[in-house]
Amino acid sequence: MKPKILKIDPHNIDRTKIAQAVEVIHNRGLVAFPTETVYGLGANALDPKAVAGIFEAKKRPLDDPLIVHIADIKDLERLAKRMPYQAERLSECFWPGPLTLILKKTDIVPDIVTTGLDSVAVRMPSNTIAREFILEAGVPLAAPSANIFGRPSPTTAKHVVDDLAGRIDLVLDGGSTEIGIESTIVELNDKEIVVLRPGGIDVELIKRVLPGTDVRIGSGSGGNAPGSYAKHYSPRAKVVIAEEGEGQVGKVISIAREAAHSGRKVGVIAVLEHAEDFREYNVKVLGPSQEAKICAARLFLVLREMDSDGMDVIIAEGIKEKGLGLAVMNRLRKAAG
Ligand code: TXA
Ligand code: MG
Repeated sequence: MKPKILKIDPHNIDRTKIAQAVEVIHNRGLVAFPTETVYGLGANALDPKAVAGIFEAKKRPLDDPLIVHIADIKDLERLAKRMPYQAERLSECFWPGPLTLILKKTDIVPDIVTTGLDSVAVRMPSNTIAREFILEAGVPLAAPSANIFGRPSPTTAKHVVDDLAGRIDLVLDGGSTEIGIESTIVELNDKEIVVLRPGGIDVELIKRVLPGTDVRIGSGSGGNAPGSYAKHYSPRAKVVIAEEGEGQVGKVISIAREAAHSGRKVGVIAVLEHAEDFREYNVKVLGPSQEAKICAARLFLVLREMDSDGMDVIIAEGIKEKGLGLAVMNRLRKAAG
């Protein structure tokens, strides 16, 4: 059964629709909603029963903690114990926006949200529909990406329905998400900042606003850092990456030939400049190679389109790991497993 889908104009929000979504939340239900990164699947973060529904709907392992979404900085005090100076600075600079902070949790955050960790992931999204929804709900919303666990994250309401029809109550359809790739997740300790997942906020920007602090990309103190699952964000088709650089086009063609020769349906995710070279295959353009922002916004969409087209193998061209390109390549590598 299809969930109820309510179309909302992000520039002119219909409050009666928000009210319907809020009612679902207050009845312990699940609402998919747009954020500036990807669609989230929200439930009342302070209600363990409601949160359990998220894990069930997504078929998500119970050791993969959730991000808690807030709309007002005051809510942070209820969820997190001590704000290190760096966290304050980062939230001032990047909230609302695609940054998630890992902080020491307070007792009101249920264990199921954090999967027993003593830290909680918090984010204040900037999408107007998300903000209005969280404010009206009056409670923080636990919300992972609104896809079946392991699949590419959803950037449209249709992607949500394709994965979760029959498993959730309501979808707020606010159109395509702007950034198209998830938030940057950072953990802070006394010595350094660890980027657990590159995402919508460029790591270079984080370094720039905290010049005295060491920033590294890696895994943090928790056992369940994102990326502990080797394969993620994956379409059904097998994904192979042709790394950016000399000989990239030739590499795509040789892999494509071999796969086609063995009778497999071959799709190529190409940078705009090379798309013509692959015209004998099913080609989808990621974006201009120098425009990581465009590539980020399109990545999950084209991965899903390749599945709809019934491809067996996807050969994806890599881009430079600069700016959002870092997040794009992180997701592509995970998709390739
Ligand atoms: O942009 C986003 O972050 C989207 C939108 C919906 O806000 N959400 C999202 O959630 O990507 P999800 O569940 O797909 O990814 C959240 C990641 C998980 O991989 C989880 O391991 C990590 O955040 N995480 C959550 N709490 C954590 C904690 N206390 N310590 C370390 N990692 C944590
Ligand atoms: Mg996810």
